[in-house]
Amino acid sequence: MTTSKRPLLGVNIDHVATLRQARGVDYPCPVEAARICEQAGADGITLHLREDRRHIQDHDVYAMAEAITTRMNLEIAATAEMVTIACQVKPAWVCLVPEKREELTTEGGLEVAGQQKLLTDIIAQLQEAGSRVSLFIDPEPKQIAAAIACGADAIELHTGAYAEAGLANDLSQQQHELARIKAAVDFAQTENSDLIVNAGHGLTRDNVGAIAQIAGIYELNIGHALIADAVFMGLAESVKAMRAAMRSSI
Ligand code: PXP
Repeated sequence: MTTSKRPLLGVNIDHVATLRQARGVDYPCPVEAARICEQAGADGITLHLREDRRHIQDHDVYAMAEAITTRMNLEIAATAEMVTIACQVKPAWVCLVPEKREELTTEGGLEVAGQQKLLTDIIAQLQEAGSRVSLFIDPEPKQIAAAIACGADAIELHTGAYAEAGLANDLSQQQHELARIKAAVDFAQTENSDLIVNAGHGLTRDNVGAIAQIAGIYELNIGHALIADAVFMGLAESVKAMRAAMRSSI
C-alpha cells in the first residue's frame, strides 16, 4: 500500500566524481550533479571524502558546501585529518564510516562498541564545530547502544547485507536481513526516541520499497544505483524514479 510517510532521500553523488577521476578531467562536475538532484527532489546531498581520494576531492567538498541548498552529509573516516576538514567545512551532517583502502565500497558498519572513547571525543568535536553526527553501523543492538552512549545524533543502518542477499536471489536471507533492520529501528527508538535513524547502502529501485516502508526510518542515502540509472534515464529522472520506488509497495 502507498503511504505518504516515507523516508527522505539523500543522494550520494560520489560516483559522478568516480567518472571524472577515471579520466583525470574536470567533468562531470559533482556540484552540478548535486544541483540537478536537488531540483529533482533530493532532500539532501551525501559525499564521501575517502582517505585515498578515489572519487571526491577536497575541492569538491568546499565547493559543495557553498552550493548545496538542501543539506550536506559529509561521510568521513574517524581520523584526525578528516575531522579537521569537517570542522572547517561545517556540513549540516557528518557521517562517520569505517574505511579500508583495499575495499571497493564501505563493506561493514563502524565498530562503535570497541572505540567508544575515541568516537565520543570526535563526535563532541564535530558537534562543537556546528555539525550533527551520524554513525554508519550494522543493524545490531550492541552498536546502536554504543552509538547512543557516544552522543551520536543519528545512526545510519547498513543495508548492504539485505541488498546482497537480494542480488544472490536468496529470498529467505533477504527477509532475515530485513527483519534485522526492522528490529534495529525498533530497538533504537525504544532506547532513545530522539535518535534519528537513517539507512543506506546497496539500495536500488528494486529493493528500496521494503526498506522505505519501515516505520521510523528518517532518510535513505542512495548513490551507486541512482547514478547508474542516470546513465540511461538522466540524473533528474533517476532521482524521480528512486523517489517513486520509495513510495511503492513491494
Ligand atoms: N551510506 C553510506 C554510509 C555509504 O558509505 C554509502 C556508500 O558510499 C552509501 C550510503 C550509499 O551506498 P550505495 O552507493 O551503495 O547506494
